[in-house]
Amino acid sequence: MFGTNLLPVAVVARICYLCAVMSIQENRFQAIISHAKEYGFVFASSEIYDGLSAVYDYGPYGSELKKNIRDYWWKSMTQMHDNIVGIDAAIFMHPTTWKASGHVDNFSDPMIDNRDSKKRYRVDHLIEGHAEKLKDEGKNAEADALIETMNKLLAKEDYAGLKTLIGDNKIACSISGTVNWTDIRQFNLMFSTQIGSVTDEADTIYLRPETAQGIFVNFLNVQKTARMKVPFGIAQTGKAFRNEIVARQFIFRMREFEQMEMQFFIRPGTQKEWYGFWKEERLKWHLSLGIPAEKYRYHDHVKLAHYADAALDIEYEFPIGFKEVEGIHSRTDFDLASHQKYSGKKLQYFDNDINEETGKPYGNYVPYVIETSIGLDRMFLLVLSQAYTEETWIKEDGSPDGRTVLRIPAKIAPVKLAILPLTKKDGLPELARTLLDDCRAGFRCFYEEKDTIGKRYRRQDAIGTPFCVTIDGQTKEDNTVTIRYRDTMQQERVNISDIKNIITQAIN
Ligand code: GAP
Repeated sequence: MFGTNLLPVAVVARICYLCAVMSIQENRFQAIISHAKEYGFVFASSEIYDGLSAVYDYGPYGSELKKNIRDYWWKSMTQMHDNIVGIDAAIFMHPTTWKASGHVDNFSDPMIDNRDSKKRYRVDHLIEGHAEKLKDEGKNAEADALIETMNKLLAKEDYAGLKTLIGDNKIACSISGTVNWTDIRQFNLMFSTQIGSVTDEADTIYLRPETAQGIFVNFLNVQKTARMKVPFGIAQTGKAFRNEIVARQFIFRMREFEQMEMQFFIRPGTQKEWYGFWKEERLKWHLSLGIPAEKYRYHDHVKLAHYADAALDIEYEFPIGFKEVEGIHSRTDFDLASHQKYSGKKLQYFDNDINEETGKPYGNYVPYVIETSIGLDRMFLLVLSQAYTEETWIKEDGSPDGRTVLRIPAKIAPVKLAILPLTKKDGLPELARTLLDDCRAGFRCFYEEKDTIGKRYRRQDAIGTPFCVTIDGQTKEDNTVTIRYRDTMQQERVNISDIKNIITQAIN
């Protein structure tokens, strides 16, 4: 009986629709990755040796963009808040740091290996992948039940139960297609190395898996030297390292990446209020880049990390779906109290403000902490994903035309202004270079004489330069130039002496 196994037409139509949407998004993601490489934003690390999995290098425009995002964050945290100061702690830290922070014991993911393909999976990713497939087949209830069971088992750390769940659902390895699985084991994500010349156990140190601990161990140094009063924050940007097992999706999940973190030290009992404050404040920062609010959502954590009493992610809709870009965590006094215990040094603050309830100073306490933690590389991917636009149109003569443009906000664009003399002669390059000399100390400029003006505009569109200025014969007569706006492609004549001002205003 042929027909009895057929899916209803509506289900088939929905599957086809979902597949089409997924493949458009997947194509868009691939196009962004190719563009990032072709235009010098991101390269695979040590590419001549076929790359290193989940490690990437930033090229000429990528490193500028990354620096601009970092500076924008740093300025918004430190310069724009009276009560936040920055530090730059070392990547290597005393090994006890990671015992106290809980990373030695808790920073691990449950993993399972397929015996035939030898491929290792994060258990939650494997089961979630299967649930996605079920949803694509219209089996939503089955998928939801699977995820619910998985969450319960994960919360209980019931690895035998999780293995049974994988077996019962016949979840197969995507490479071998078999269900020949090992037992589930915990796999610590920290990279370790040796310090000094003697290689024994005592010399093992870790590459930091988060920048936050450099802030906690410096809490009193900073509070005293910068004379900070609670509530106050310490901000830091820097590299972090995690031996991610399922490292894929370009720079979304890397083994070496950069974080921008801020720990905000508060009075115990005020954490709810400050958590709410930073939740809103951080989303405002994202929106200040002109990214539409509907591209973001909050995701509250159900299963909390060992240090948190509340946590949420700010998620952005990447071409690969809504994914975490930033975490807001109410970390209680876990870290400071734990470092106090392991180091034997007091990490307390004396608060001489008067408590209205008791009429006495608040006195000594270990502050509570609200953390904001955003991945710089993930933010970079967010900016690229939001900016990448393919445009096509029909010209007046009826022929097709188009361009790929990065609509990067002017304040973080790698290059702000391209200065383009129309020809290489008639004194135009000299005029152009005078403008370049006038502007380059204030913002990043690019100078080019080669090729037609149309080709030069397209190249600037592709790297996201918001303004191009063309110097032509008329400039010599009346001191005017053509300024071309990247997003609208509109052009207008302005006085050459106004250019610096126009760009400065736009980027501030
Ligand atoms: N100190 C808290 C902490 O590290 P997390 O949620 O593990 O929290 C914070 O990481 C942010 O760091 C994430 O929201 C993400 O943007 C970024 N991040 C984490 N792991 C990453 C990885 N493997 N590759 C790129 N970015 C990562």
